[in-house]
Amino acid sequence: MIILGINAYHANAAAAIVADGRLIAAVEEERLNRIKYAAGLPVRAIQFCLDQAGVNLAQVDHIAVPRDPWARLGTKLRYAIRMPRFALDRARVMKRFAGIRQDLAAAFQVAPDDIRARFHRIEHHAAHLASTYYVSPFDRAAVLSADGLGDFASSMCAIGEGPRMRVLGEVTFPHSLGMYYTALTQYLGFWKFGDEYKVMGLAAYGQPEFLDEFRHIVRADGLLSFRLGLEYFTHQSQGADMTWREADRTPVLGQLFSPHLEKRLGPPRDPREPLTERHHNLAASMQAALEEVLVAYWNGLAKQSGQRALCLAGGVAFNCVANGKIFDSTPFEHVFVQPAAGDAGLSVGAAFAVHHQTLGRPREFVMDHAYWGPRFSPNEIRKVVDSVGSADEVDVAQLEESELLETTAHHIAAGKIVGWFQGAAEWGPRALGNRSILADPRRPEMKDILNRRIKHRETFRPFAPSITEEATGEFFEKTHPSPFMTFAYPVRPEKRAAIPAPTHVDGTARLQTVSRSANPIYWKLLRAVGRLTGVPIVLNTSFNDNEPIVCHPQEALECFRRTQMDVLVLGNFVLERKSSSADREESADRFARREN
Ligand SMILES: [Fe+2]
Repeated sequence: MIILGINAYHANAAAAIVADGRLIAAVEEERLNRIKYAAGLPVRAIQFCLDQAGVNLAQVDHIAVPRDPWARLGTKLRYAIRMPRFALDRARVMKRFAGIRQDLAAAFQVAPDDIRARFHRIEHHAAHLASTYYVSPFDRAAVLSADGLGDFASSMCAIGEGPRMRVLGEVTFPHSLGMYYTALTQYLGFWKFGDEYKVMGLAAYGQPEFLDEFRHIVRADGLLSFRLGLEYFTHQSQGADMTWREADRTPVLGQLFSPHLEKRLGPPRDPREPLTERHHNLAASMQAALEEVLVAYWNGLAKQSGQRALCLAGGVAFNCVANGKIFDSTPFEHVFVQPAAGDAGLSVGAAFAVHHQTLGRPREFVMDHAYWGPRFSPNEIRKVVDSVGSADEVDVAQLEESELLETTAHHIAAGKIVGWFQGAAEWGPRALGNRSILADPRRPEMKDILNRRIKHRETFRPFAPSITEEATGEFFEKTHPSPFMTFAYPVRPEKRAAIPAPTHVDGTARLQTVSRSANPIYWKLLRAVGRLTGVPIVLNTSFNDNEPIVCHPQEALECFRRTQMDVLVLGNFVLERKSSSADREESADRFARREN
């Protein structure tokens, strides 16, 4: 029984394939076509999934699409009468989805009738809920989806029991935590799609001085609901148009905050304006107000469901700072967050919704790692390494695993920046040790060095650590696993000086806990680093430079060439730049002085 899940025609297009109830592969289209947040029909992602399952399109039994144009039709019609442009948009979306069979047939060069799969439309939030609960390790759990908007709702919660899910509540347009966060992100001068992360990082620098005002902008409303102060927003009257930038084909959302917000909080920040204490405090207030609403919602859900396990999906589930507070502020003891919590994850959710809800099959799969993307054979990697010439000025060595680990650990401990490419690409937006850039977390200057030489990010944004699961409690105040980097925990005060590079200004870090079973070679590398330095932690940032995370080894090599990375580990090859780096020497000197 082959089920193909496809998230198509809007940002974060992706595909996933489920065979006999088990996930075989999942990948975002952006990793393959190299266009960030790629939309459209994810043809390459679908092809990859079919290849992994060893089938062609004609052999797929079910195709699941996470969009249901008929959902909440009454509400949509009411808006359509008020906003003709909105009606036009809806009509366009319905037409696109109605044509998916033809689009697939054209893309895969088969006759439409050759696609014998049954097509299923799974409502957006039902697919988010399915994307997390059905792959979680829990037999029963409370389940929550919260995002900007999908199928005219922004949130849905349910109780999952075995293969069934019962919806407990939903919040419909225009009330939306995602819209709230995006609107305020824009107000603070960050207009790019996906910039919400930046403001979450910025919030740690401020105090929630404006929280009282923010409680008018968003507030909890009963046990399982929340409301926006609609006068602060424009989307309920003008829609939330997404357009595509010509230059890099990335999505752009129109302005979501209203003049009323400016009247209450002052003028918005110009993106070129420096960040001030006021901006820090606005970001802190915005994050604090979100957390108040989420805590109320989580507690409402705990009460209504009677569960102690919680599954999260939807873009709001990427708020790792809020997620880190679940354990202290709610009765929930176990939390699973889908690694592709955003709309890419809908492809997984739609496929599992068909398997369990439509076909009534039992559960037998747990997503205990995130490595569902393309992997490359030693031969393919060797071909890329063979293309390295004298102009690259690198030393190349091929090493056995134990030597590879020791050598890489030594490079990290010596302050070098290491590109680390192993196994299958990660599913979801985080690099989790297969397509990662690694560095020494003990060096306070490492964040600036990484920014200067490779990442070119805003200086206020933190870098994240990976740590062996076993050592989590030694360095962090919480030990609940965070295998997908979706929780921020306080670093133990006595350990903050030991890992200054990934410790954020508020003393927390957005950690990845690494278990031996989920990623054996990465876990062993962390152990090797620990043996050398006493700290089984590396600073882990995604392997890219203003582009989607590298997927193919050739892209890793090109990123290595373009940036000032010191070492590239491709499978069991180590490529080390011959020229020394001033930064590296400066860092080594400073570190040696500190050690003495
Ligand atoms: Fe969504």
